[in-house]
Amino acid sequence: IGGIKALGPNLTTCHPSFGRDDLLVHCCPPAFETPVPYVDFLSPDPQSPVRVRRPAHLVDENYIAKYNKALSIMKSLPYDDPRSFARQANLHCLFCTGAYDQQNSNAPLSIHRTWLFFPWHRMMIYFHERIIGSLIGDDTFALPYWAWDIPEGMVIPDMYMNKNSSFFHTERDVSHFSPKIVDLNYAYERNLSPEEQLDTNLAFMYNQMVSGARKMELFMGCIYKAGEEGYCNAPGTVELAPHNTLHTWVGSNLNPGREDMGKFYSAARDPIFYAHHPNIDRLWEVWREIHQNQMDIKDPDWLDSFFFFYDENLKLVKVEVRDVLDITKLGYSYEQVDRPWMNKRP
Ligand code: C2O
Repeated sequence: IGGIKALGPNLTTCHPSFGRDDLLVHCCPPAFETPVPYVDFLSPDPQSPVRVRRPAHLVDENYIAKYNKALSIMKSLPYDDPRSFARQANLHCLFCTGAYDQQNSNAPLSIHRTWLFFPWHRMMIYFHERIIGSLIGDDTFALPYWAWDIPEGMVIPDMYMNKNSSFFHTERDVSHFSPKIVDLNYAYERNLSPEEQLDTNLAFMYNQMVSGARKMELFMGCIYKAGEEGYCNAPGTVELAPHNTLHTWVGSNLNPGREDMGKFYSAARDPIFYAHHPNIDRLWEVWREIHQNQMDIKDPDWLDSFFFFYDENLKLVKVEVRDVLDITKLGYSYEQVDRPWMNKRP
């Protein structure tokens, strides 16, 4: 039924946007594509195999070879094809720099730093994963997740470090290459010993997931609706860090905005983005579990907010937040890992 306060993009309004204060970027689809007819989202067939997302540091050679092949096919598709890597990357630019106006309004739609952060990224990754799988005819394909919240995952996973693979990316900070331990609350180089950094990271995770996230808005981000409320601009704990901080930490120190990972317009050009976000998505599920789903949002304006994505069959799909709240229905799951930060109360 869609209340007037539910948010959604007006696809006919795509316009250049600011990737950095001093940089105008052009991320729109080719002009002939907008507007096109769309279909409403349908959950995948419950009989189809579950896609099990595994930690990137645990995947085997066969998996890496398969994903590497699929990603190189995706990178070779022309820009006119919405499944191409460049178009996939630009989805992030479009919805995160305000390239579309909201429906029935001239206000830009920008999903970060609000309660649309988790569901929007879940949608983006969901469609991306299915496109990757379809390019190699594998309906079991699942993205890996970069498990930076557990000690074994606190370096850039090896598969992203291999220069001869499609996962490698030049626009990164080489001083942060493995074996450097990630700084989940990165702002400047702290130069802690590996043991200190690891311990600091675990205590920080406890704060972001548990003690600092005991209210819906603290974790999910502020309430963002169409109309008077405008742009709320208060990110949830995990969005602010480790999410933002790791974007910055991975991006190149030689670029003004630590591109590519360091800025919204360019972040999804780095293949590691598609391992970073599954971990964010997984932690959303973990937070819900820790707090026993008691903070699940019931507000219809959130549930009715909607976006558009191309699927693996080149159909444009309208998907609402309510469509993506049950990952079992979405046909994927996460291989569990320990939560050593759970007992790291500082
Ligand atoms: Cu939309 Cu990791 O950012």
